[in-house]
Amino acid sequence: MSSILIVDDESGIRDSLRGVLEDEGFRTGEAENGETCLRLLEKHAFDVVLLDVWLPGIDGLETLQKIRELDNPPEVIMISGHGTIETAVRATKLGAYDFLEKPLSIDRTLILIKHAIDTKKLRHENRDLKRQLQSKSVIVGDSVPMKALRQQTSIMAPTNGRVLIYGESGTGKELVAHAIHAQSLRKDEMFVEVNCAAIPEDLIESELFGHRQGSFPGAATEKEGKFQKATGGTLFLDEVGDMSLKTQSKVLRTLDEQRFTPVGSADAITVDVRVIASTNKDLEEEISKGNFREDLFYRLNVIPFFVPPLRERKEDVPLLARHFLKEFADAYGRRSREITDDAIQMLMRYSWPGNVRELRNVIERIVIMNPTTTRFERKHLPPLIFRDGSRRASGGEFSTLHQARDAYERDYILKKLDENHGNVSRTAEMLGLERSHLYRKMKALGIAAKE
Ligand SMILES: Nc1ncnc2c1ncn2[C@@H]1O[C@H](COP(=O)(O)OP(=O)(O)OP(=O)(O)O)[C@@H](O)[C@H]1O
Ligand SMILES: [Mg+2]
Repeated sequence: MSSILIVDDESGIRDSLRGVLEDEGFRTGEAENGETCLRLLEKHAFDVVLLDVWLPGIDGLETLQKIRELDNPPEVIMISGHGTIETAVRATKLGAYDFLEKPLSIDRTLILIKHAIDTKKLRHENRDLKRQLQSKSVIVGDSVPMKALRQQTSIMAPTNGRVLIYGESGTGKELVAHAIHAQSLRKDEMFVEVNCAAIPEDLIESELFGHRQGSFPGAATEKEGKFQKATGGTLFLDEVGDMSLKTQSKVLRTLDEQRFTPVGSADAITVDVRVIASTNKDLEEEISKGNFREDLFYRLNVIPFFVPPLRERKEDVPLLARHFLKEFADAYGRRSREITDDAIQMLMRYSWPGNVRELRNVIERIVIMNPTTTRFERKHLPPLIFRDGSRRASGGEFSTLHQARDAYERDYILKKLDENHGNVSRTAEMLGLERSHLYRKMKALGIAAKE
């Protein structure tokens, strides 16, 4: 039930408003002046305050300002009498939702109250979602590289500098991008993500820049592009190495000119976004192969970040495992769980080709598969954790790390594909990789898809 606080020095007005509002199913409260109103708001939460402009003691405007300083303030609708309408208008500029003129129209009062309640709910949800997002962008890990990464993030987040994040799949590149946004001056605006690998080539331009209605077959309605959606906020170009040369040149132009033109439109739109890009490819290699524009690379690579693979910072495994254990115990509404040191030792021995995402998937799996277990041991871990690591212990047959890694990854992926009867989607899920990523990996390693 929504609640309304009526603030007016005339008891007649309070009585009649209370009657109407209670008939409509609202809970009400009353105050005859600003001081009482503020005292009541400290003790009880109200959704909407109907606030007279003219009050004895502190006036409506001052009361409004104090209300706006509260932690989760109600929406305020000003009530203006004869000669106070200008003040009421001024109040809306100070954050009042709207104003009503005396004599009050019941219909208009009720409509306005309902709208104000909706606004309050949206604001509330919005705040909760942002808080959730911010809590999700916590980078867990106490290894030296992770500590350095956190420090770097906090130093450069408040600048507007473009960031390019390197790292293998599943290392936490997107998380780092979120963390930078959450600590930036743009944190109250949108974080907009574009996965350049997942969007078909012929759609990416309209995805990024939007299009006018009818500008190409299939453009049935006008579409706002991600550059515009991210205005004031951050645009995350995920897997930027997969962008075609044509799109690269349009992005380059947009960054240079700080403006762009939607597909099929004549009018340019000014851009105010901070661009964060990520890649799991070696862009300098892509440049030498002619797949990536060097000029775009230099514009994106203002501040480079490298997120190391999990196998190079195994000391983070215990913290991460326990972090995910808590996350999934909460998500599945289960009591808190423990994991034995012995099981943690096993997890630390594994090489984690799918990095943190793979670890997260393993923990989720054991939480789901063992609903009544409160203490996870070695025996609860999936068999794959044990099979790896012992083979190819020396690796002496390879001259470079690159070769050794490729050979290992190839063997590993072939084995997993085999276990899943060649089903790429299922294998990707098991490895904690995105399907598109596994496909590219297979292509690079010369593995043919059987599907
Ligand atoms: N240091 C960390 N602390 C907490 N969670 C992490 C950490 N690193 C990664 N994760 C979690 O692991 C998962 C994978 O991370 P993320 O999506 O950021 O990886 P990515 O590098 O973008 O992968 P891809 O290249 O496949 O897109 C996410 O659920 C993320 O929240
Ligand atoms: Mg990602």
